[in-house]
Amino acid sequence: MKYLNLGCGNRFHTTWTNLNFTVTGEGVIAHNLTQGIPFPDASFDVVYHSHLLEHFPKNSAEFFLKECHRVLRPAGILRVVAPDLEQIARTYLFALEQANAGSLEGAANYEWILLEMYDQAVRHTSGGEMKAYLTREDIPNEDFILKRCGIEAKNLIETGRHHRQQSQPIKVPENRLKNSLRRIYRFLRYQAYRREILLKLLLGREYSTLQIGRFRQSGEIHQWMYDRYSLSMLLQQCGLEQIVQRSATESYIPNWTSFNLDTEPDGAIYKPDSLYMEALKPAA
Ligand SMILES: C[S@@+](CC[C@H](N)C(=O)[O-])C[C@H]1O[C@@H](n2cnc3c(N)ncnc32)[C@H](O)[C@@H]1O
Repeated sequence: MKYLNLGCGNRFHTTWTNLNFTVTGEGVIAHNLTQGIPFPDASFDVVYHSHLLEHFPKNSAEFFLKECHRVLRPAGILRVVAPDLEQIARTYLFALEQANAGSLEGAANYEWILLEMYDQAVRHTSGGEMKAYLTREDIPNEDFILKRCGIEAKNLIETGRHHRQQSQPIKVPENRLKNSLRRIYRFLRYQAYRREILLKLLLGREYSTLQIGRFRQSGEIHQWMYDRYSLSMLLQQCGLEQIVQRSATESYIPNWTSFNLDTEPDGAIYKPDSLYMEALKPAA
């Protein structure tokens, strides 16, 4: 079996072919998937991507899924995992009712679910307001967030706690040493940022537009969202068949859970907020 994991980020299995915008580990191939999938027709038995499709603009999703279809062999399996718009919308409406009725828990859940819905589409800096929420001192609805977002949210919450514990006043070195270090630091910083400084001078106020544009094209932003209906329709449009909604552990892929892509070794679900869908390329 030949397996392909697209937009793998830090989540990959070493026996698979793994591809991402930037190299995230040993053997990961750097490639921008908006340019297509850099493999010949019918070269994989399985194509998988998790929390990638929503990073493409709506009008490029069809091209991308047709590329997945192209590189699959006849009867090959496509597994698509994406945030579940339907569950976000249902959770939002429930939290809205609770918040409106004066529940503090409902209000906190309402604040979070709005971030899930919008922050990833509109933020201008990495991590956005979701990261700020998860790294703050008081998180009133930690259990709710962990149930929705799993290990990634847990790691951010723990990082925030760790940083707060570590933040002690930095010891200031002796004056001469301090001044030399400062000069070296400024020089290195200037070298690294020379291009940016020139751009800033040239573009003036337009520089922030460039920064936002660059960030929006970096692969972090959500450009569309899917539910079981729209994703089924799209898969069908791209020539796939036998389309089914799955759980994290169910799959057409033999021994799926052994790869620990949608589940952890202890059986915990990696991204519980997900919509899991599978489809087959028609046999020749
Ligand atoms: C939210 S992360 C998901 C990572 C991993 N699949 C997971 O489920 O944890 C999205 C990943 O897709 C990658 N990505 C986004 N746009 C891409 C593109 N045009 N080409 C290649 N990779 C892209 C990002 O670099 C990032 O690693």
